[in-house]
Amino acid sequence: MSQFTSEEKEAMKAEAGIAACAFVSSGMQIGIGTGSTVKYTILELGRRIREEGLEISGIPTSDATEKLSIEQGIPMLDWENCNHLDLVIDGADEVDPSWRLTKGGGAALLTEKILAVASDRYAIVVDESKLVDRLGERHPLPVEVVPDALTVVQRALLDLGIDGIVREAVRKAGPVITDHGNLIIDAKLVRYFDPEEIELSLATVPGVVCVGIFTRPVDDLFVGWTNKKITRYRPGEDAHAQRR
Ligand code: A5P
Repeated sequence: MSQFTSEEKEAMKAEAGIAACAFVSSGMQIGIGTGSTVKYTILELGRRIREEGLEISGIPTSDATEKLSIEQGIPMLDWENCNHLDLVIDGADEVDPSWRLTKGGGAALLTEKILAVASDRYAIVVDESKLVDRLGERHPLPVEVVPDALTVVQRALLDLGIDGIVREAVRKAGPVITDHGNLIIDAKLVRYFDPEEIELSLATVPGVVCVGIFTRPVDDLFVGWTNKKITRYRPGEDAHAQRR
């Protein structure tokens, strides 16, 4: 596995996050994802609003994204005033060769999945390190659960041979609580699971609110690289072949 310096990673994230903005035009209603790559998308959209008069509105996928978007001057919509979404731009923790995703590293998976399914187009922004051969290879699978169901869900995971640990907060004591008041179990996929099958098996366990496998087809994949390569990929194009 290639190692990247933190400077290389930031440059790659910026490249991908900004590239996706080229396809945003006035009048669009946009779902805005969560994470350190989409941060660059939000900053670029803010710049275009200020400098180019871009007129868009957005629905955030998390409280953190809402805060940054407002700071950047992006008008926010709420669900009641949103009849449709033209585009969602979001990050991912892993992208497999079929462009299925692991998401939820930022604990915003539920709203991210709702917007992904609701949107006309789905654009993903990642750095090169996110391209994997199989989901679960580098990142545990996040599963959002109702707190009361924690034990039941962990037992169901064990029945499938999967160890799941409750995600702990980084800056304070106790578990991560999602924007929806739930817990996150990070499930370690030590062997291959078919993504669609494992998503379905876990989604039907009572108490599971959202599984961090995303199979909604990706329309545009933006990859930031450490050297000059194509950034935007369309379905059928092979971004994985260019990995370092
Ligand atoms: C948020 O819940 C996640 O799905 C993020 O989209 C994902 O973790 C990507 O974040 P980074 O761009 O920070 O890696």
